[in-house]
Amino acid sequence: MNRDEQISLTEEFVRQNLKGYDSGHDWWHIVRVRKLASFINDMELLADPFTVDIAALLHDTADSKFADGDNEQSYLRIRDFLNSKGMSDIRDKVIHVIKNVSFSIKHKKDNPDDPLLWVVQDADRLDAIGAIGVARAFNYGGFRNNPIYFPGEESENTGISTIGHFYDKLLKLKEMMNTTTGHKIAEERHEILEKFLEQFYGEWYFGS
Ligand code: ADP
Ligand code: NI
Repeated sequence: MNRDEQISLTEEFVRQNLKGYDSGHDWWHIVRVRKLASFINDMELLADPFTVDIAALLHDTADSKFADGDNEQSYLRIRDFLNSKGMSDIRDKVIHVIKNVSFSIKHKKDNPDDPLLWVVQDADRLDAIGAIGVARAFNYGGFRNNPIYFPGEESENTGISTIGHFYDKLLKLKEMMNTTTGHKIAEERHEILEKFLEQFYGEWYFGS
Protein backbone atom coordinates (compact mmCIF):
# COMPACT_ATOMS: atom_id res chain seq x y z
CA MET A 1 0.00 0.00 0.00
CA ASN A 2 1.44 3.39 -0.90
CA ARG A 3 1.42 6.58 1.17
CA ASP A 4 -1.45 8.18 -0.80
CA GLU A 5 -3.66 5.17 -0.22
CA GLN A 6 -2.78 5.20 3.46
CA ILE A 7 -3.74 8.89 3.67
CA SER A 8 -7.10 8.23 1.93
CA LEU A 9 -7.89 5.31 4.20
CA THR A 10 -7.01 7.38 7.26
CA GLU A 11 -9.26 10.22 6.06
CA GLU A 12 -12.07 7.70 5.67
CA PHE A 13 -11.41 6.24 9.16
CA VAL A 14 -11.44 9.74 10.71
CA ARG A 15 -14.69 10.75 8.97
CA GLN A 16 -16.35 7.60 10.34
CA ASN A 17 -15.07 8.35 13.83
CA LEU A 18 -16.14 11.99 13.84
CA LYS A 19 -19.80 11.22 13.15
CA GLY A 20 -21.93 12.57 15.96
CA TYR A 21 -19.29 14.95 17.28
CA ASP A 22 -20.14 18.55 18.06
CA SER A 23 -19.18 20.85 15.23
CA GLY A 24 -16.11 22.16 17.09
CA HIS A 25 -14.61 18.78 16.40
CA ASP A 26 -15.82 18.35 12.88
CA TRP A 27 -14.01 17.29 9.76
CA TRP A 28 -13.06 20.85 8.83
CA HIS A 29 -11.21 21.27 12.14
CA ILE A 30 -9.17 18.23 11.13
CA VAL A 31 -8.53 19.68 7.66
CA ARG A 32 -7.35 22.99 9.14
CA VAL A 33 -5.13 21.33 11.75
CA ARG A 34 -3.55 19.16 9.10
CA LYS A 35 -2.72 22.20 6.95
CA LEU A 36 -1.36 24.17 9.91
CA ALA A 37 0.72 21.21 11.07
CA SER A 38 2.20 20.72 7.59
CA PHE A 39 2.98 24.42 7.34
CA ILE A 40 4.72 24.50 10.72
CA ASN A 41 6.64 21.36 9.91
CA ASP A 42 7.71 22.67 6.48
CA MET A 43 9.10 25.75 8.20
CA GLU A 44 10.81 23.94 11.04
CA LEU A 45 11.60 20.49 9.63
CA LEU A 46 10.85 18.80 12.93
CA ALA A 47 9.24 15.54 11.86
CA ASP A 48 8.56 13.23 8.93
CA PRO A 49 5.85 14.94 6.77
CA PHE A 50 3.80 11.77 6.23
CA THR A 51 3.72 11.06 9.97
CA VAL A 52 2.62 14.67 10.57
CA ASP A 53 -0.29 14.15 8.15
CA ILE A 54 -1.42 10.92 9.79
CA ALA A 55 -1.04 12.26 13.34
CA ALA A 56 -2.94 15.47 12.47
CA LEU A 57 -5.72 13.47 10.84
CA LEU A 58 -6.09 11.17 13.83
CA HIS A 59 -5.42 13.67 16.65
CA ASP A 60 -9.06 13.97 17.81
CA THR A 61 -10.28 10.43 17.26
CA ALA A 62 -9.95 9.49 20.93
CA ASP A 63 -11.09 12.71 22.64
CA SER A 64 -12.48 11.58 26.00
CA LYS A 65 -15.42 13.98 25.75
CA PHE A 66 -16.63 12.19 22.66
CA ALA A 67 -15.37 8.62 22.84
CA ASP A 68 -17.96 7.44 25.37
CA GLY A 69 -15.39 8.00 28.09
CA ASP A 70 -13.53 4.89 27.03
CA ASN A 71 -10.19 6.05 25.74
CA GLU A 72 -8.35 2.74 26.01
CA GLN A 73 -10.88 1.24 23.65
CA SER A 74 -10.29 4.06 21.15
CA TYR A 75 -6.51 3.69 21.33
CA LEU A 76 -6.88 -0.01 20.60
CA ARG A 77 -9.05 0.71 17.61
CA ILE A 78 -6.56 3.25 16.26
CA ARG A 79 -3.71 0.80 16.89
CA ASP A 80 -5.55 -1.93 14.97
CA PHE A 81 -6.30 0.47 12.16
CA LEU A 82 -2.67 1.55 11.78
CA ASN A 83 -1.45 -2.05 11.95
CA SER A 84 -3.94 -3.26 9.36
CA LYS A 85 -3.05 -0.50 6.88
CA GLY A 86 0.69 -1.06 6.96
CA MET A 87 1.54 1.81 9.32
CA SER A 88 2.86 -0.11 12.29
CA ASP A 89 6.20 1.70 11.80
CA ILE A 90 4.67 5.04 12.84
CA ARG A 91 1.96 3.61 15.13
CA ASP A 92 3.51 4.31 18.52
CA LYS A 93 4.55 7.86 17.62
CA VAL A 94 1.07 8.67 16.36
CA ILE A 95 -0.65 7.20 19.41
CA HIS A 96 1.67 9.15 21.68
CA VAL A 97 0.51 12.35 19.96
CA ILE A 98 -3.16 11.42 20.28
CA LYS A 99 -2.71 10.71 23.98
CA ASN A 100 -0.90 13.96 24.74
CA VAL A 101 -2.25 16.59 22.38
CA SER A 102 -5.32 17.60 24.36
CA PHE A 103 -5.28 20.82 26.39
CA SER A 104 -6.40 19.23 29.62
CA ILE A 105 -3.50 16.82 30.06
CA LYS A 106 -0.83 19.21 28.98
CA HIS A 107 -1.24 22.24 31.16
CA LYS A 108 2.42 21.64 31.89
CA LYS A 109 4.48 23.97 29.77
CA ASP A 110 7.16 21.74 28.46
CA ASN A 111 6.32 18.64 26.53
CA PRO A 112 8.59 15.67 26.60
CA ASP A 113 11.05 15.66 23.78
CA ASP A 114 8.64 14.90 20.97
CA PRO A 115 8.88 17.16 17.90
CA LEU A 116 5.89 15.46 16.23
CA LEU A 117 3.74 16.34 19.24
CA TRP A 118 5.01 19.95 19.26
CA VAL A 119 3.90 20.39 15.66
CA VAL A 120 0.43 18.81 15.94
CA GLN A 121 -0.26 20.42 19.31
CA ASP A 122 0.62 23.89 18.01
CA ALA A 123 -1.64 23.35 15.00
CA ASP A 124 -4.52 22.20 17.23
CA ARG A 125 -4.06 25.18 19.55
CA LEU A 126 -3.91 27.64 16.66
CA ASP A 127 -7.31 26.45 15.49
CA ALA A 128 -8.72 27.41 18.91
CA ILE A 129 -7.70 31.08 18.55
CA GLY A 130 -8.17 33.81 15.91
CA ALA A 131 -11.49 34.26 14.13
CA ILE A 132 -12.00 30.52 13.81
CA GLY A 133 -11.28 30.12 17.51
CA VAL A 134 -13.95 32.70 18.39
CA ALA A 135 -16.44 30.94 16.11
CA ARG A 136 -15.62 27.52 17.56
CA ALA A 137 -15.91 28.77 21.13
CA PHE A 138 -19.39 30.20 20.64
CA ASN A 139 -20.40 27.15 18.69
CA TYR A 140 -19.30 24.89 21.55
CA GLY A 141 -20.93 27.17 24.12
CA GLY A 142 -24.19 26.98 22.20
CA PHE A 143 -23.91 23.22 22.00
CA ARG A 144 -23.52 23.13 25.81
CA ASN A 145 -26.24 25.74 26.26
CA ASN A 146 -23.83 28.06 28.10
CA PRO A 147 -24.44 31.81 28.38
CA ILE A 148 -22.30 33.96 26.10
CA TYR A 149 -21.14 36.10 29.02
CA PHE A 150 -21.56 36.30 32.75
CA PRO A 151 -20.50 39.73 34.05
CA GLY A 152 -17.49 39.56 36.36
CA GLU A 153 -16.15 36.31 34.98
CA GLU A 154 -13.20 37.94 33.27
CA SER A 155 -11.60 38.50 36.65
CA GLU A 156 -12.86 35.48 38.56
CA ASN A 157 -11.92 32.78 36.10
CA THR A 158 -14.98 30.66 36.78
CA GLY A 159 -15.52 29.66 33.19
CA ILE A 160 -19.31 29.39 33.11
CA SER A 161 -19.77 31.40 29.95
CA THR A 162 -18.07 31.33 26.59
CA ILE A 163 -16.35 34.64 27.33
CA GLY A 164 -15.13 32.94 30.52
CA HIS A 165 -13.55 30.25 28.35
CA PHE A 166 -11.39 32.93 26.74
CA TYR A 167 -9.75 33.52 30.14
CA ASP A 168 -9.65 29.86 31.10
CA LYS A 169 -7.98 28.73 27.93
CA LEU A 170 -7.91 30.77 24.74
CA LEU A 171 -5.86 33.74 25.96
CA LYS A 172 -3.26 31.37 27.44
CA LEU A 173 -2.54 29.46 24.26
CA LYS A 174 -0.13 31.97 22.70
CA GLU A 175 2.37 31.46 25.49
CA MET A 176 1.99 27.70 25.30
CA MET A 177 3.23 27.36 21.74
CA ASN A 178 6.02 24.87 21.24
CA THR A 179 7.48 26.13 17.96
CA THR A 180 8.66 29.55 16.76
CA THR A 181 6.43 29.34 13.69
CA GLY A 182 3.44 28.39 15.84
CA HIS A 183 4.16 31.28 18.16
CA LYS A 184 4.32 33.75 15.27
CA ILE A 185 0.94 32.68 13.92
CA ALA A 186 -0.45 32.66 17.46
CA GLU A 187 0.53 36.29 18.04
CA GLU A 188 -1.60 37.40 15.13
CA ARG A 189 -4.54 35.26 16.20
CA HIS A 190 -4.21 36.31 19.84
CA GLU A 191 -4.64 39.93 18.76
CA ILE A 192 -7.93 39.00 17.14
CA LEU A 193 -9.12 37.62 20.49
CA GLU A 194 -8.10 40.82 22.27
CA LYS A 195 -9.82 42.99 19.68
CA PHE A 196 -12.92 40.85 19.82
CA LEU A 197 -13.12 41.15 23.62
CA GLU A 198 -12.62 44.89 23.50
CA GLN A 199 -15.45 45.30 21.00
CA PHE A 200 -17.62 42.82 22.92
CA TYR A 201 -17.29 44.73 26.20
CA GLY A 202 -17.82 48.03 24.39
CA GLU A 203 -21.15 46.73 23.11
CA TRP A 204 -22.14 44.95 26.32
CA TYR A 205 -21.46 47.97 28.51
CA PHE A 206 -22.77 50.41 25.92
CA GLY A 207 -23.77 53.67 27.55
CA SER A 208 -22.38 52.85 30.96
P1 ADP B 1 -8.84 20.38 21.98
O1 ADP B 1 -8.95 20.84 20.53
O2 ADP B 1 -7.57 20.74 22.60
O3 ADP B 1 -9.30 18.95 22.19
P2 ADP B 1 -11.28 21.02 23.31
O4 ADP B 1 -11.81 19.71 22.94
O5 ADP B 1 -11.21 21.39 24.74
O6 ADP B 1 -9.86 21.30 22.74
O7 ADP B 1 -12.12 22.14 22.56
C1 ADP B 1 -12.57 22.08 21.24
C2 ADP B 1 -13.10 23.45 20.86
O8 ADP B 1 -14.17 23.82 21.73
C3 ADP B 1 -12.06 24.56 21.02
O9 ADP B 1 -12.22 25.52 20.00
C4 ADP B 1 -12.35 25.12 22.38
O10 ADP B 1 -11.93 26.47 22.53
C5 ADP B 1 -13.85 24.99 22.46
N1 ADP B 1 -14.28 24.83 23.86
C6 ADP B 1 -13.92 23.89 24.75
N2 ADP B 1 -14.49 24.10 25.96
C7 ADP B 1 -15.23 25.22 25.81
C8 ADP B 1 -16.08 25.99 26.69
N3 ADP B 1 -16.27 25.63 27.96
N4 ADP B 1 -16.67 27.08 26.19
C9 ADP B 1 -16.48 27.46 24.91
N5 ADP B 1 -15.72 26.79 24.03
C10 ADP B 1 -15.10 25.68 24.47
NI1 NI C 1 -8.35 19.13 17.70
